[in-house]
Amino acid sequence: MEFMELIQKRQSCRNYSQQPVTTEEINACLQAAQMAPSACNAQPMHYTVCTGAMAAKVGEATRSMGMNKFTEQVPCFVVISEGNYTASAAMGSRVKDQDYRSIDIGIAVAHFTLCATSCGLSTCILGWFEEKKLAQLLGIKNRIRLVIALGYAAENDAIRPKKRKSLEELVDFKTE
Ligand SMILES: Cc1cc2nc3c(=O)[nH]c(=O)nc-3n(C[C@H](O)[C@H](O)[C@H](O)COP(=O)(O)O)c2cc1C
Repeated sequence: MEFMELIQKRQSCRNYSQQPVTTEEINACLQAAQMAPSACNAQPMHYTVCTGAMAAKVGEATRSMGMNKFTEQVPCFVVISEGNYTASAAMGSRVKDQDYRSIDIGIAVAHFTLCATSCGLSTCILGWFEEKKLAQLLGIKNRIRLVIALGYAAENDAIRPKKRKSLEELVDFKTE
């Protein structure tokens, strides 16, 4: 698939079929995430892959206050928590007052979701979840930053046109 076509095709899926995701498919997406760049190459993240009964429990922790009702159908979740910085990334983050871990996780998630799309899978990045509940359920000690819902879209789930700000709003070109 051509790159811009892949980008157009990736969308947040909120309507999943019952088709399970294979270990090979999950691994392909994890390998794409693994190759993502990170500050000082620290790779400060951990992926907890949840399927079966555990996926049902994780899904439950993403539904509250009427949000994310669709996660009842999702066959696989990848919970992404922070890992350790290297000494140089920790120093850079402190001196420059930047949260490189969240940035690195965001980039890795972009790799993961685009790879999933290229494999014919669908995803939804979830930032709305009950962190304490998930941490307890999965024995995660560090901050949990994102959850990825992964599965096959239902047959009637069409590609939507993207709603985005114009480049005029988003971009400034400066030459001096
Ligand atoms: C950090 C982050 C958190 C998000 N959290 C949720 C969420 O909890 N539930 C949800 O349905 N979509 C969530 N989304 C998906 C966005 O709503 C979606 O990416 C955006 O509307 C653009 O649509 P598209 O992904 O279909 O192109 C999240 C996306 C990001 C990047």
